[in-house]
Amino acid sequence: MYNEKLIAEATEARLKSYSPYSAFAVGAAVLSKSGRIFTGCNVENISFRLTMCAEQGAVAAAVAQGERDFTAIAVVADSKVPIVPCGGCRQLLAEFNPGIEVTMATLDGLRETKTLSELLPYPTQGILESRENV
Ligand code: THU
Repeated sequence: MYNEKLIAEATEARLKSYSPYSAFAVGAAVLSKSGRIFTGCNVENISFRLTMCAEQGAVAAAVAQGERDFTAIAVVADSKVPIVPCGGCRQLLAEFNPGIEVTMATLDGLRETKTLSELLPYPTQGILESRENV
């Protein structure tokens, strides 16, 4: 079952998007185990690589409030098909919960849910393990 509350919060956050370069507004809402919801939107920059994704904003807002135990995240965009978090955001989410439930939704009502384990297998392999060989 889709978390409609989370999708609604992400949809609202999307309205605050600062995306003059891509004109592609994205909203995200992350749910913590305590039941609190934190939202974010994409914030672009003239130097494209400095752009912050909606998921990043939501996670940063939650962590700044002392929440790190996330169970689900919703991402909303006005796209034909639901958009999947970028590789960097998958890694960011994996830092806190490699199995978090990721719901992707469009304004037209399309929904898709996957676990982060499906979107990003082996999230830690190659980082900590390689340190032992240094
Ligand atoms: N974007 C997000 O905020 N989240 C995603 O999951 C995918 C992409 C943003 C980054 C950029 O501002 C715009 O969407 C186009 O890629």
